Amino acid sequence: MNKNLVIAIDGYSSCGKSTLAKALARKLHFIYIDTGAMYRAVTLYFLRKGIDLNNEEMVKDALKEVHLNFDSKDYQTHILLNGEDVSDEIRQMEVSQQVSEVSAIKAVRQEMVNQQQRMGRSKNVVMDGRDIGTTVFPDAKVKIFMTADPKVRAERRFKELTAKGEQITLEAVFENIAHRDFLDTTRKESPLTRAADAIVLDNTELTEAQQLEFALGKISRFLKA
Ligand code: DC
Repeated sequence: MNKNLVIAIDGYSSCGKSTLAKALARKLHFIYIDTGAMYRAVTLYFLRKGIDLNNEEMVKDALKEVHLNFDSKDYQTHILLNGEDVSDEIRQMEVSQQVSEVSAIKAVRQEMVNQQQRMGRSKNVVMDGRDIGTTVFPDAKVKIFMTADPKVRAERRFKELTAKGEQITLEAVFENIAHRDFLDTTRKESPLTRAADAIVLDNTELTEAQQLEFALGKISRFLKA
């Protein structure tokens, strides 16, 4: 089988990209790379250090101190920030509220894209994010662009966050998602957009199993190559 097949999954916030990406990685024995977690870990570091996002030099210096690694036991990917497992902390609202601003910074994107290209080179990977099919791996053989009704996305994320004990309202989650959609699609540096050759997957009314089946159907011919 092919040894460097990249499956690129892009789409809006809280669309279930990582759920599908993990299921595909598990099924196909591919490596899963959650690029959103990388931007979130950088954001957490900047918050902890009180980095002024408008100060380019400060941002660039801080970036040099950020070392990211994945530890993917059982396809439950853990992200390590300078050796510390921050997988839970990066999902908190404080990080969610800052991450689109941090990920719009050119120097941050350049560094993350370089790292992602290194991680995906000569391996079979499923990578999810916003710019995988357009910027990180524009030659990816399989590109899926995910979308879903914003209200349904907010309800799904709300359930996830409250199940973890976070005190939050559905309205606040909806606002956050709408705001991130806006920032992600309108930023100057590689905005979220569907690659011309990406397959659209609207999962508003699909179960996880149906999405997996859909994606596997699209991928199967590349697995035989
Ligand atoms: O997928 P997520 O919600 O965890 O991503 C967090 C943020 O990171 C999202 O609001 C936009 C940004 N992001 C990005 O700009 N490019 C990527 N490839 C992945 C995420």
